[in-house]
Amino acid sequence: MEQKRFRNVVYPPSEDSFLIESCIDCHVGERVLDMGTGSGILAKKAASLGGKVTAVDINPEAVAAAKAIGIEAIQSDLFENVSGMFNLIIFNPPYLPENPSDMESMQWASGATNATIRRFLSGAKEHLLPKGRILILVSSLTDFEKLPELKAYGKKKVAGEKLFFEKLDVWELKVI
Ligand SMILES: C[S@@+](CC[C@H](N)C(=O)[O-])C[C@H]1O[C@@H](n2cnc3c(N)ncnc32)[C@H](O)[C@@H]1O
Repeated sequence: MEQKRFRNVVYPPSEDSFLIESCIDCHVGERVLDMGTGSGILAKKAASLGGKVTAVDINPEAVAAAKAIGIEAIQSDLFENVSGMFNLIIFNPPYLPENPSDMESMQWASGATNATIRRFLSGAKEHLLPKGRILILVSSLTDFEKLPELKAYGKKKVAGEKLFFEKLDVWELKVI
């Protein structure tokens, strides 16, 4: 019922969502931040494993969708309204290298220079507890490994899947 109400303005769970969802491995009591929560699918998985989850989205409809399934959620442009530190930060970002023009296109467009992903990488390290991790989904359409902000992190690929016109990978990042 709730899915139906929000479906036109909130990113529907898709192949990318399912791939990163399969990598979520938090433990009971760990603090988890789900950045860009959309429908809340990743927040829900982390909560089902016992994580203490906070969901964030810039889109108020996504915040409402996450709250509707019982997830604590706040509206924020990335970390702007986020306080606190986390064991795990999850992000299935908007990753197509196009400039977003409205709230709907912000679901998939990261800016011609991957601005959203780069701002995320700059901000995330300030919100990681010691030994904290990031799980981020990356498309082969993004020049992810060349981003200068990545130099602050050690990285390990934890999953990958080939789709029609791109390859999707999930990376685990830790502050060096
Ligand atoms: C590809 S969707 C992923 C949604 C969901 N996590 C999933 O896996 O199905 C990207 C999400 O990031 C959100 N988003 C885009 N730019 C953002 C920003 N600057 N700050 C917070 N959320 C943002 C979008 O509104 C959208 O819900």
